[in-house]
Amino acid sequence: MLRHRLYLLVVALITSSVLPRVQGQRAETYCFTDDPDPYVRFSTKTAYTLANGEFTHEDLVPEGCEARQAWHLMRHGTRYPSENDIIVFTVLLPTLQDGILLAHQDGLGELCEGDLKLLADWSLGDLNVSWANVLTSQGHLDLEGLATRYKEAIPLLLDQPFTNESFKFRHTATQRTEASARSYAQGLFGSDVYMPPPIDPDPLLKYYEVCTSYQTQVADNPEATIESQLYLEGEKMAAVATNVSRRLGIPLGLEELEVLYDACRFYKAWDPLAPSAWCVALTPDDLKVLEYWQDISYYYTNGYGHAINYEMACPPIQDLIEHFSAVVEGRGGPSGVFYFTHSDAVVPVMTRLGLYKDSAPLTHDQENPDRFWRTSSHGIFATNLAFTLSSCGADGWWVSLAMSEHLVALDGCASHLGCTWEEFIATYGYLQQCDLDAICNNTRTGRSSSAASGGPELAWVEGVLHAITKWTSKLFT
Ligand SMILES: *[C@@H]1O[C@H](CO)[C@@H](O)[C@H](O)[C@H]1NC(C)=O
Ligand SMILES: *[C@@H]1O[C@H](CO)[C@@H](O)[C@H](O)[C@H]1NC(C)=O
Ligand SMILES: *[C@@H]1O[C@H](CO)[C@@H](O)[C@H](O)[C@H]1NC(C)=O
Ligand SMILES: *[C@@H]1O[C@H](CO)[C@@H](O)[C@H](O)[C@H]1NC(C)=O
Repeated sequence: MLRHRLYLLVVALITSSVLPRVQGQRAETYCFTDDPDPYVRFSTKTAYTLANGEFTHEDLVPEGCEARQAWHLMRHGTRYPSENDIIVFTVLLPTLQDGILLAHQDGLGELCEGDLKLLADWSLGDLNVSWANVLTSQGHLDLEGLATRYKEAIPLLLDQPFTNESFKFRHTATQRTEASARSYAQGLFGSDVYMPPPIDPDPLLKYYEVCTSYQTQVADNPEATIESQLYLEGEKMAAVATNVSRRLGIPLGLEELEVLYDACRFYKAWDPLAPSAWCVALTPDDLKVLEYWQDISYYYTNGYGHAINYEMACPPIQDLIEHFSAVVEGRGGPSGVFYFTHSDAVVPVMTRLGLYKDSAPLTHDQENPDRFWRTSSHGIFATNLAFTLSSCGADGWWVSLAMSEHLVALDGCASHLGCTWEEFIATYGYLQQCDLDAICNNTRTGRSSSAASGGPELAWVEGVLHAITKWTSKLFT
């Protein structure tokens, strides 16, 4: 096999030149398969079932009250990687696998027996580009389970037959959000239900696509995420690459490291109960460095890093207040409002609400291990905001919020369990005014609609492929 011969060459190369740096201290090696509690906080690729809470009636509805409306904003469940990522997986992972196994046969590398066996047993399977961005079977389970638990917590409201009037579903124009919505319906009703066709672009669920200022200042502006780039190019990431190279016995650059990280976390999210073979490459310390790099990045694209990130996030909150106000004012409305979208829409709403805010910004040189901004908690697959409105008789109305089924304390509300209607409106009522065109500096003629901004992503794939080419061509010189 060509790949095999290539690796004999790689090994020869390592043995002759890289050996002194690649060989390490066996005494302190980490053995993933011996770790009873491996680190699984993988930023926005974290499995829902490894980070979620669990709805309870007591959390959502105070004693003596009755749930009257549920408003639920969700990210799609676990998906397959993008087309570009799948191409990189299929090109690089089997090659790395061979290289690591051969290196260990030659006495290089530090993986323990169990880790080596796990990696040897890994195979790409039939993963191919036709699966790009599709919801995985675990993704279906994520949403079905979520709906089932919400229904069990507030059965009066959600355990009733579907009608178009009593339940409102809306998803974006993608397979993964539609499949998520249908899985959620399955969890609630045990069957599929009518869903209106998606709107594209959707100013409610993809407000970031129709926000010129966001597109120009953040999405299309590499300077916007300079802090995460500096961290990526900094000492800590270089140390991770060095350590991982030593552990695997093959030389690796940052590009290969990113692919290993993605392989580790995607496979984990697809099958959360099984050990993910590529995680043998990374120790908990390595994973915390990679996690911070991701947290910085999302801080500047979805978080407090730029004001437009949260200023634009008012349409969903405006919609929430309109729905709840109608019930409070006796105008009625559906029992449940269910929206299925993307992390770029859900996480900025959290930011707009003031959640997970640290006193200092996240920067490449000021890493706070106790930070609140944790995409491994609030940016996970199927991450969701469940607002429940309850009627409490003479005591008025009550609003509770659960983030991925963990009860959340809201600013401006005396109780950590939720808000009175008066507190809620006093704090968030101003968001009923939400003029997206003004906030986003949209011009009447030229509304920005990000044409599937594959730009940076494609450049990344080209970078990786270029690095691989460089890496293998070294062998023949
Ligand atoms: C990709 O996978 C699907 C489903 O497993 C299969 O039907 C299809 O033939 C595959 N396509 C290629 C190009 O291998
Ligand atoms: C819901 O509305 C759609 C579109 O108007 C209609 O086709 C469907 O039959 C309705 N379903 C129910 C259960 O009323
Ligand atoms: C890299 O390895 C060194 C020496 O084994 C260790 O002290 C350091 O903490 C490791 N760094 C990371 C980021 O894993
Ligand atoms: C809004 O758009 C106009 C015209 O493109 C531009 O001149 C102006 O600087 C923009 N304002 C902001 C705050 O971005």
